[in-house]
Amino acid sequence: MSENRRRVAIYPGSFDPITRGHEDIVRRALTFADQVIVAVAHTATQRKQGLFSVAERVEMIRETFADEPRVEVAEFTGLLVEFAKERDAHLIVRGLRAVSDFEYEFQMALMNHKLWEPIETVFLVPDVQYSFLSASLVREIAALGGDVGDFVAPAVRERLYRKTRS
Ligand code: PNS
Repeated sequence: MSENRRRVAIYPGSFDPITRGHEDIVRRALTFADQVIVAVAHTATQRKQGLFSVAERVEMIRETFADEPRVEVAEFTGLLVEFAKERDAHLIVRGLRAVSDFEYEFQMALMNHKLWEPIETVFLVPDVQYSFLSASLVREIAALGGDVGDFVAPAVRERLYRKTRS
């Protein structure tokens, strides 16, 4: 990689919805990347079914990082490495919360590198207060009427309650 190249990092995921843990990872990535593309994967591109539509997830992430011009929000279908090539990005950022994340993340990092050799995956560890946090737990707590105020931004919390009440 040339010294002067703009360092573009892609932070891919489901973000269903974006949590304080995701926000923490994006802010850490901004310490070494010039631009962070938060890339929301379409359902066809992964195994999970979602609560929010991809458009809603994108909107929530845009609201969250409205004050950060170095964060771009995008959506993608198909292979992540193809999206990375299109965007001339050579870094994938992923958060590692616990040992249980490791096997899946290790496999994806190796496979992405096999698919496109110039791509590198960087693992970031979130603040310890987010190490137990996941979007799926947040969805479940909200659906059962619990308070998710500590785990997501206020606007996301509001949308979760509206969604789970409807
Ligand atoms: O937040 P998630 O759900 O753990 O994110 C998983 C994601 C979207 C990063 C992964 O499913 C993915 O990269 N999907 C794109 C399809 C792809 O490239 N698959 C091969 C990965 S080795």
